[in-house]
Amino acid sequence: MDLLHELLTGAPARIDAIVDLESLSALESELLGKKSLIASTRRGLGQLPPDERPKVGAQVHEAQRRLEDLLAARRELLERMAEDRLLAGDRVDVTLEGYEPSVGRHHLLTQTVDEVVDIFAGLGYRVASGPEVELAWYNFDALNTPPTHPARLESDTLYVEYGEEPDEMLLRTHTSPMQARYMEQHEPPVYVVVPGRTFRADALDATHSPVFYQIEGLAVDEHITFGDLKGTLAHFAREFFGPDRTIRLLPNFFPFTEPSAEMHVSCFACDGSGCRVCSGSGWIELMGCGMVDPNVLEAVGYDPQHISGFAFGMGAERIAMVRHGINHIRHFYENDVRVLRQFT
Ligand code: PHE
Repeated sequence: MDLLHELLTGAPARIDAIVDLESLSALESELLGKKSLIASTRRGLGQLPPDERPKVGAQVHEAQRRLEDLLAARRELLERMAEDRLLAGDRVDVTLEGYEPSVGRHHLLTQTVDEVVDIFAGLGYRVASGPEVELAWYNFDALNTPPTHPARLESDTLYVEYGEEPDEMLLRTHTSPMQARYMEQHEPPVYVVVPGRTFRADALDATHSPVFYQIEGLAVDEHITFGDLKGTLAHFAREFFGPDRTIRLLPNFFPFTEPSAEMHVSCFACDGSGCRVCSGSGWIELMGCGMVDPNVLEAVGYDPQHISGFAFGMGAERIAMVRHGINHIRHFYENDVRVLRQFT
């Protein structure tokens, strides 16, 4: 009993001196485990005279309860401290300024092409694309362009593989070869637009780039007239440049259309009275167009007696430059985000 009393008196100080959970467990088994004074006293109870057993038993029980309480209180404290330490180490400073992720957007060229394609999709046109490396046959011959045509010269066209005409391969100089490819694969009626990358042996200047984008349009059906071409392009001009625009068609020449024309839109900046945007003329040239030449229809197996159509082709950079007042084509290819960010 004296030893038990001594144990109880010293226990609070010993327990309070413990600073980590592992040492606390060790002390716990020393105080309450199988080899502890509590356990051995309990085991010796049977040897006591029966009338002393309840009193001693109660004291052992009381001592055990007391030790258990002290240990539990200490454990709770140490656990809380450990958690506080963890939280302090893990803390996120929510007052620290973050950085805004920059959001990507479509390139102006992509936006322009998408917008043009959408306008024609609204008229029921389909969208197709074709190869950038093209056979001379589709780029020239199927489009009624004779072997002697100057556009076929190496000074204008980038050849990939020379050979016997028309097996030569080249980088397509326009999207028009898709007129022939598409008609070969589809029966009329055909209403299709073809956006794509095109290539010419041009030096870079303000309005020319050796790589540029075109959007081709082709409508072939029964009874298609030049009036349909004009109405379609006028609709496009109003959708793209605003409801007040008018267009005019001037004679031109392309081997694959007859008659051929160049389409002008009334200047959106001065409404036709003449300004810097339209070089004083009141008109801006936008694209080449015309009625599909019967020779082209024949080359793809259509019957020009029953079928007619129109085609047009515009430069994507050109129409974007006109609309946004961009003064050099290089802005499309330098990809300076300070420039591109302005077009959202
Ligand atoms: N392919 C011609 C060019 O690149 C444009 C065009 C297309 C003209 C369709 C008439 C018809 O200049």
